[in-house]
Amino acid sequence: MKTGIFYGPEGGSTEKVAKLIAKEFGEDKVDLILVKNSNAKELEKYDKIIFGISTIGKETWDAHHPNNDWDVFFPNISNIDYSNKTIALFGLGDSVSYSAYFVDALGKLGRKLLEKNAKIVGQVSTDNYTYEHSEAEIDGKFIGLPIDEDFEDHMTEERVEAWVKEIRPFFE
Ligand SMILES: Cc1cc2nc3c(=O)[nH]c(=O)nc-3n(C[C@H](O)[C@H](O)[C@H](O)COP(=O)(O)O)c2cc1C
Repeated sequence: MKTGIFYGPEGGSTEKVAKLIAKEFGEDKVDLILVKNSNAKELEKYDKIIFGISTIGKETWDAHHPNNDWDVFFPNISNIDYSNKTIALFGLGDSVSYSAYFVDALGKLGRKLLEKNAKIVGQVSTDNYTYEHSEAEIDGKFIGLPIDEDFEDHMTEERVEAWVKEIRPFFE
């Protein structure tokens, strides 16, 4: 059974990293799915899921923006039975300009999944990141893989490689 990489938005850094993760896993082992083209039914089909999300500011979460892919898709997360699923998450952010909100959307998604008792793998140590605050930090670790393409793009490949190596056994 393939792993479903559900991500958004299209055409930016989140997509770049989704494709990098797919390459690292082996493209034949994953399906890349844009959340904007997807729904709960499609999510149900996969036992192994990787979610990819970018943070574009707290205000976009608090207001309703119908043109934000994840904003539209997010309610689906609550309507899924996670008992047979394994989940990993990655999130794009900017640890310099948004140091006090670093990858907050990753945290919002992670917390919702934990509420649903989802089995989440691929937590990441905060050691190699510099930021003031992050909603994605849960029990001393990031709930998924943070990627900063704005200021630390030179670290992306290494971070993705190490992460995929760690989660791979759960996705086979
Ligand atoms: C309007 C705006 C708000 C942002 N807010 C945050 C934020 O709160 N936290 C953060 O870590 N990054 C923030 N970022 C940085 C983006 O998450 C980052 O540039 C990311 O790589 C964008 O991914 P994308 O190209 O897939 O949309 C913001 C970027 C923009 C343009």
